[in-house]
Amino acid sequence: MAGLVVANWKMYKTSSEAKEFFEELLPIVRDEQKEMVVCPPAVFLPLAAKITLGSNVQIGSQNVHHELQGQFTGEISVQMIKEYCSYVIVGHSERRPFESEEVVAAKLRLVLSSGLWAILCIGERLEQRELGETAQVIRRQMTTALEGCSKEALAKLVVAYEPVWAIGTGVSANAEQTGQVHALIREMLDSRFVKARIIYGGSVTPEDVGQIMRMQNVDGVLVGGASLNANAFAEIVKSS
Ligand code: PGA
Repeated sequence: MAGLVVANWKMYKTSSEAKEFFEELLPIVRDEQKEMVVCPPAVFLPLAAKITLGSNVQIGSQNVHHELQGQFTGEISVQMIKEYCSYVIVGHSERRPFESEEVVAAKLRLVLSSGLWAILCIGERLEQRELGETAQVIRRQMTTALEGCSKEALAKLVVAYEPVWAIGTGVSANAEQTGQVHALIREMLDSRFVKARIIYGGSVTPEDVGQIMRMQNVDGVLVGGASLNANAFAEIVKSS
């Protein structure tokens, strides 16, 4: 499978800025073979889907509710986003303070059963790394999230290793740290006979993406801050 480069805009941009981004990006990456996914805020999904139609850039949602429908004011269901995107980010660390691991697992099941690709984010916090608990945290997050998912359902799984201390800090994990965790994730996937891509996220920049992509078991990147600028994102795609 081709390398995967995902942009996560988080809560940035207006609709005109979103439009401008795609108008700039699409011509620059027209001949790229890598798989590219842009995850704008939910309110821009229809616009993003329309503007990227027929291009090689796919659209993802940053989140979704874990129930199919119901009395959940302000929430967005998988049925609502489905016509506008092909990927959904599940369990991003910026959402985990409001979501239990069981809710993350329910979202993963729902997204996969809807036929969409799921990008499951996992990663340890700084204090957990300092206490030597990284492997334990990764094992628990993976096991809880994947529970109840069949091997067939996991065909559209992507796992994103995002050490929480590396997100938005300008400090990305080094080769040894990334290598160890990606190897552990690969081992856990292999034991379930699941062939998912494992991508890295956390302060990825156009300057260091080449080095990150050369690491073993790294099949792509999830980019926050550096994905807000079309040229920077295109540079990441080209150097990855
Ligand atoms: P960052 O964010 O690239 O700004 O560190 C990554 C993410 O949160 O997915």
